[in-house]
Amino acid sequence: PLTTQVNGHGFLEIGGCDVTTLVEQFGSPLYILDEETLRLACQQYRDAFKQYYKGESQVLYASKAWNCLAVCAIAASEGLGIDVASGGELYTALQAGVIPEKIYLHSNNKSRAELIFAIESGCTIVVDNWHELHTLVQIVETANYASAPPRLLLRLTPGIECHTHEYIRTGQLDSKFGFDPHQLEELFTFVSQQSALNCVGLHAHIGSQIFERQPHRDLAAVMVQWLRDAAKFNLKLTELNVGGGLGVTYTESDDPPSIEEWVKPICEVVQEACAAENLPLPKLLCEPGRSLIATACVTAYTIGSSKTIPETRNYIAVDGGMSDNPRPITYQSVYRAVVANKMSVPLTETVTIAGKHCESGDILIKNAQLPKTEPGDILVVMGTGAYNYSMASNYNRLPRPAAVVVANSEANLILQRETYEDLIRQDRLPERLKKVAQ
Ligand code: LLP
Repeated sequence: PLTTQVNGHGFLEIGGCDVTTLVEQFGSPLYILDEETLRLACQQYRDAFKQYYKGESQVLYASKAWNCLAVCAIAASEGLGIDVASGGELYTALQAGVIPEKIYLHSNNKSRAELIFAIESGCTIVVDNWHELHTLVQIVETANYASAPPRLLLRLTPGIECHTHEYIRTGQLDSKFGFDPHQLEELFTFVSQQSALNCVGLHAHIGSQIFERQPHRDLAAVMVQWLRDAAKFNLKLTELNVGGGLGVTYTESDDPPSIEEWVKPICEVVQEACAAENLPLPKLLCEPGRSLIATACVTAYTIGSSKTIPETRNYIAVDGGMSDNPRPITYQSVYRAVVANKMSVPLTETVTIAGKHCESGDILIKNAQLPKTEPGDILVVMGTGAYNYSMASNYNRLPRPAAVVVANSEANLILQRETYEDLIRQDRLPERLKKVAQ
């Protein structure tokens, strides 16, 4: 979890930086990423595999949680590979200097251009479906990539359900992702006959923000069975990627396993099952996103207007909202907030924190316990590192906020604040529309 401090003025500090000073310097709203917290989580994953897995392992950062140059660079510098979910994320990871050998490309509908980009970059492709498999064979055969066929993992739907929001469940059979495991024989037969493909392993991902411990054990066991099945088709698969999904603490009531508690049983199950099946240990991969970065970041906003509806509700509004954090309106996600310049003031108020968008559902937190606030106070929403910036939009043409990384009392800009000019940069006004009737 994020290490914060309260300084002598009763102000919040992150990474040794006063949050209110950061807002003065970089503007509001502002994403503030604590480098140490992110690095620590990377190390915890890496160390847990080192401790509990006897074979080779590789942790990938699922960069869909927050894909930008600086975050990819930090994860890579901790020895992590990067999971990318589109050509754009792949491009960013490459530009950040991540080596292609450590990049894995996902998506249930990669375009031909994305597949060619991936092949030429030398990253591994996680193949999702038959159409993609056939397209790959065709690309490799016609474009002369046969001398260095792309490395592939096959993504299968494990048929494991877990209790998380229905939008972020992916493991059940009725999912848009992955090959149907009922077609395993057909799939392995096809792949084993294709010299154009270099299929090295299997992948599955069962969902996100998962607190239960059993589903990933079940997944590990199922995946080893698939490895055994593949061996019957003379397919030598040496990599097993169990996906991501470990949940994080957004509020006091969330109680996820620790990183170590998540990794350990997966390693144990794979080792036991491989021993039982007399299979060599595969290289074990996983690709967490949220549990690496969610708690490493906060969003600082400036409080503006307020509204009291007697005996009903107190609203305060901030200068951002669903455009910089779409998770509350999309998944009814619950967040916690503090007031950076009033950390020592008693929490006497129950307020609903609204965004500034023209949409009544644009509520960041319902019934937050806060000190008495006034316009200009700095509200800090905790745990916004995952799926906030990466899902941000320009709804109502709000420029996207800036982001800084803080470490050792120093702050560096990692995402520049968008300007009004940025907002119309891609707009085109056809000649015949230029004369606006007044
Ligand atoms: N691998 C695959 C193939 C995935 O689809 C995902 C997440 C991950 C790894 C990383 O999962 P994590 O460790 O972050 O749980 N926007 C939603 C979450 C969508 C997750 C999409 N896939 C949210 O804000 O809750």
